[in-house]
Amino acid sequence: MASSSSSDRVLVLGGSCAIGRALKARLGDRAVATHRGKGPQDWPRFDALVDAVDPLLDRFGPFRHAVVLFAESNPDRCAKEPEAARRLNVERTVGIVDRLLARGVMPVFTSTESVFDGRKGAYVETDAPNPLMTYGKLKLEVERHLEGKRALVVRLARVVGTTPDDRTVFTGWLGDIAAGKTIRVAADNRFAPIHVDDVAEGLVRLMDRGLTGLFHLGNPVSAGRLEMLETLLDAWRRAGRTFSGRIEPCRFADFPTLEPRPLDSTIVPAKLIAATGLEIRSIETICRQAVAAQD
Ligand SMILES: NC(=O)c1ccc[n+]([C@@H]2O[C@H](COP(=O)([O-])OP(=O)(O)OC[C@H]3O[C@@H](n4cnc5c(N)ncnc54)[C@H](OP(=O)(O)O)[C@@H]3O)[C@@H](O)[C@H]2O)c1
Repeated sequence: MASSSSSDRVLVLGGSCAIGRALKARLGDRAVATHRGKGPQDWPRFDALVDAVDPLLDRFGPFRHAVVLFAESNPDRCAKEPEAARRLNVERTVGIVDRLLARGVMPVFTSTESVFDGRKGAYVETDAPNPLMTYGKLKLEVERHLEGKRALVVRLARVVGTTPDDRTVFTGWLGDIAAGKTIRVAADNRFAPIHVDDVAEGLVRLMDRGLTGLFHLGNPVSAGRLEMLETLLDAWRRAGRTFSGRIEPCRFADFPTLEPRPLDSTIVPAKLIAATGLEIRSIETICRQAVAAQD
């Protein structure tokens, strides 16, 4: 049976998402990333709902860490079908992290800022969670299961990219800006977006330093949603472009969701930065890079 203790190799479960692809790009041959059908065909297939993790460990190991990315991550889908979401996000996840632990592979569980209710903001690791949404409640169940075990739990803020059409916040706005649309924006919502490559780097540093426990990973500086859109528009105009549309400020609650969303669930990454020296690009830099990538 494979022993992973002397290895620095990483198994990425659910690797076809943007974070998984960034991790695989960062780690190269150190990582084996799995997909369910949408990833590169030379990656092994793994469906967490039906497959056991042991065959992956036997065939591709040894691994020191396994990053657990697979999840139903859409809060409305979790609210609409809580049993199905619980099966994947809790039952199957717990079963898989337990097998990893039994095999000496450290699980790296990606949780969310949505474990907080968003009334206070600037949450640190010692603040008490109080999720409003089913999605956050399910993530918190797995966090609790991993408490005191040899595992990493990393709560992520909103993850964004700068690649056109990657369907994240800034690139989505850029599509609307280029089309001259009216953009409705929740002026009362605050968050701290982090670039997907910084997430990958942060996870790698935590793993390479052999750290365990709970860490927050988001932008050290948060901003209001309206302020962020204005920063993006500023970068757009600095690149010599014009915007013929309009910004329409509104309230977060004006967007229909099945469950209330936290208004300010920003998480503070100071503990992770102190432990790893990670440099996280600013919101201004993300905006500039997103605009530059449109060319
Ligand atoms: N993105 C964010 O802003 C953010 C913030 C906080 C936490 N997180 C956490 O980070 C992780 C990745 O998030 P994401 O937003 O990038 O997710 P996503 O785009 O929704 O992707 C989910 C990933 O899970 C995989 N997956 C779904 N069902 C699966 C199953 N039954 N078996 C195996 N894989 C399955 C998907 O594979 P297919 O593509 O093959 O279906 C995909 O790779 C999630 O755990 C999420 O909760 C993300």
